[in-house]
Amino acid sequence: MEEVEVQIGDCNPEDLSEIKEIEDGSFDHPYPSSMFKDLLQNSNGFRVARFGRRIVGYYVMSPSGYERIVIVSLAVHRDFRRMGIGEKLVMDSIALCKNRFSAARKIELQVSVKNRAAQNLYLKCGFRKIGIIQNYYENGDDATLMSIEVPHDSWKSLESSDGR
Ligand SMILES: CC(C)(COP(=O)(O)OP(=O)(O)OC[C@H]1O[C@@H](n2cnc3c(N)ncnc32)[C@H](O)[C@@H]1OP(=O)(O)O)[C@@H](O)C(=O)NCCC(=O)NCCS
Repeated sequence: MEEVEVQIGDCNPEDLSEIKEIEDGSFDHPYPSSMFKDLLQNSNGFRVARFGRRIVGYYVMSPSGYERIVIVSLAVHRDFRRMGIGEKLVMDSIALCKNRFSAARKIELQVSVKNRAAQNLYLKCGFRKIGIIQNYYENGDDATLMSIEVPHDSWKSLESSDGR
């Protein structure tokens, strides 16, 4: 399908109702509005894809421990899927991790073993499958744990030095 030009930027409070609609249309057990409000105040990693004035996708990620960032949720509006927006969101999350979460060394997420679309998306963006969490979801489904190492420029220059 054809790609669409979207702008990816930080989420604003007025975006939350559209985000909740996308979340509700994407997951069997959507997160509550209160969680999104809380994440907007606290995460510093809540981004949206805008098509004109409309929100067509989003992701939110949050630090978990010192070196790890977790993608809490990511979804694209049903009417805008297969247009490259999911890929742009995931690539933005990797760039954001480098720029805003300087201590983070890897991004992780869980996705249902049945969710081929999302697994393919993350694999295409460089994530690897690192494990299975049994009975992760309320319905008993297992989750695939996926992860990507985030290279930071400062680490590269250290690695390329002689190590002394
Ligand atoms: C998963 C999701 C975010 C993909 O978004 P999208 O904008 O349609 O994805 P893109 O158009 O950027 O596709 C990028 C790649 O993802 C994979 N992909 C996307 N949709 C797919 C599908 N229905 N079946 C198989 N692979 C798919 C493909 O590898 C695709 O690359 P290709 O076009 O070269 O084949 C979207 O389907 C969605 O919102 N699903 C519901 C919510 C969800 O599952 N979120 C992830 C859980 S963490």
